[in-house]
Amino acid sequence: KTPIILDTDPGIDDAVAIAAALFHDRIDVKLMTTVAGNVGLDKTTNNALKLLQFFGKDVPVAQGASKPLVRPAEDSSHIHGESGMDGYEFDVPVQAPLAQHAVEAMRDVILNSPEPITIVPIGPLTNVALLLTLYPNCASNIERIVLMGGSASRGNHTPNAEYNIFADPEAAKIVFNAGLPMVMVGLDVTSQATLTTENVETIRDMNKTGSMLYSLFQHYRGGSLKARGLKMHDLCAIAYLVNPALFESQDCFVDIETVGLYTAGTTVVDISGRLAKPSNVTVCLDIDVPAFREWALEVLHNAI
Ligand code: BDR
Ligand code: CA
Repeated sequence: KTPIILDTDPGIDDAVAIAAALFHDRIDVKLMTTVAGNVGLDKTTNNALKLLQFFGKDVPVAQGASKPLVRPAEDSSHIHGESGMDGYEFDVPVQAPLAQHAVEAMRDVILNSPEPITIVPIGPLTNVALLLTLYPNCASNIERIVLMGGSASRGNHTPNAEYNIFADPEAAKIVFNAGLPMVMVGLDVTSQATLTTENVETIRDMNKTGSMLYSLFQHYRGGSLKARGLKMHDLCAIAYLVNPALFESQDCFVDIETVGLYTAGTTVVDISGRLAKPSNVTVCLDIDVPAFREWALEVLHNAI
């Protein structure tokens, strides 16, 4: 089993990724950490706790950064709803988050683990940047970072920037320049990784998890994208962990634009090596969509 820390801002597509990670037999979620992103930190933390209770899983949750390192927070509630997970009435969570800050909880999990830990960020990179800055000694026991974020082409929040990187570009710059093995699962693949109406109906009828996710999907982007398919951005990071053969990738030099007038938060991906700099990131560029859908249905089938 791959031991991971899942750093998240749930988020409707985060909820799907969390289900997949928790119920996959080759993934061991050691810790979930929350960050402000799609909605504010209190809500993302509460959503993580609600999901764990719904799934009956006992995974510690630690609350992280309530705002980006430098900029004001800009949420994504127009996509995920006011609560971040509109559309389903969850029970009030009984479990509380750890008293420890996410960054300290991550440090302890990493330093105490006999096996190197994979960090899987599916929200803005604020917590991970703080971890690598405050506790650089953790680096030697991090297997790699497999993140959902960025794009080698266009953006989804601004013309060039993907939301997770846009939300905290300074943090992303720290993480991308940390010298750790890193996989970028960005919009080039995640925008293709949709669930069709037929997929979504299959999921609805599968199990309790499926019918809960179906209710959330009715509110994903106010339901406006249903006909074109629902983009499973964060689920792609989980898919990469256990099934990298679904993806085509290329090792590239990548850095983050933090000062552009229109382009802050852009992942500058040097696909053709024009800058002649050593590659620091494995960038996913294409995905086998039918095989991804099949994988997604199979993994959700294993949920409760
Ligand atoms: C990313 O932004 C968020 O809204 C999603 O949860 C995903 O992590 C996609 O750009
Ligand atoms: Ca997310």
